[in-house]
Amino acid sequence: MQIIRTVSDLVTLVSRSLDNGKSIGLVPTMGALHEGHLSLVDRAVKENDVTIVSVFVNPTQFNNPTDLATYPRKEEDDFRLLAAAGASAVFAPSVEEMYPEGTASDHVFDLGTAAEVMEGKFRPGHFQGVAQVVSRLFRLCRPTRAYFGEKDFQQIAVIRNMVASEKIDVQIVAVPIRRADDGLALSSRNALLTPEQRKVAPEIHAALAYSVDYAREHSVRATHDTVVERINAIPHMEVEYFEIVDGRTLLPVEEWSESPDIVGCITVYCGKVRLIDNIRYRPHLTKKC
Ligand code: PAJ
Repeated sequence: MQIIRTVSDLVTLVSRSLDNGKSIGLVPTMGALHEGHLSLVDRAVKENDVTIVSVFVNPTQFNNPTDLATYPRKEEDDFRLLAAAGASAVFAPSVEEMYPEGTASDHVFDLGTAAEVMEGKFRPGHFQGVAQVVSRLFRLCRPTRAYFGEKDFQQIAVIRNMVASEKIDVQIVAVPIRRADDGLALSSRNALLTPEQRKVAPEIHAALAYSVDYAREHSVRATHDTVVERINAIPHMEVEYFEIVDGRTLLPVEEWSESPDIVGCITVYCGKVRLIDNIRYRPHLTKKC
């Protein structure tokens, strides 16, 4: 596996691959890799001739300086895992290499209404930063396919909108959430949990999974409230938002019959650690309320 630090070395690899008629799979990450990231890499390796994984903690998508400062970094382990997973190259640039003209940008991406709700509301500027780095990675890597995890459900919708508005030719592939055996969605931030917090964190998925059954006999509002109440009753845990939304528009639904595609998206503070997760209600739900 090639370790690439500079844009010029990256462009050389990409040009050589495309000139030889090879397909390129791109997996953008911020490192501190776990099985969730590696499931994206596995899929990319299977579906493409060349797989490039980026490892870059993108400062422009952090609206909280402490979150950026404490974000876990484990470059050596990451490179070892990526080599074992069969990645062709890892692109791990410095901030200066990624943003030679500085991180500030005048360009405002058109990300649609999907970027204004949930994470868009609670993390102002976050999706503009994600679009800034992902569009730059797309322009440099010219991938045939790019892989994103459904754990960040809203991020996928926003990236699809960005690709459409920027007219970038790439296939966006959504990969299912990988969980620990106790149900907790794998996340680089799980490493920041204390042992007590780690013990209660699986309650997020437990509450969501329970609510899928509950939803068969209850309204959207009651389902929403039961999840929030159950999680907020647990020490160390506080729901920041829980929204039951149309899976395509990400706008809130009021009735189960409103859309064939309904997802519940949640963000919970577990101590100071911000965890996100989601669950699909429809098409799983058969009975409508
Ligand atoms: P990061 O949080 O490192 O995640 C990189 C990719 O891995 C994302 O597409 C994310 O959804 C996916 N992922 C993380 N945990 C997962 C899990 N448990 N199961 C499946 N997929 C999972 O998301 C980002 O980085 C950044 O915003 C990025 C897109 C790299 C732009 O900076």
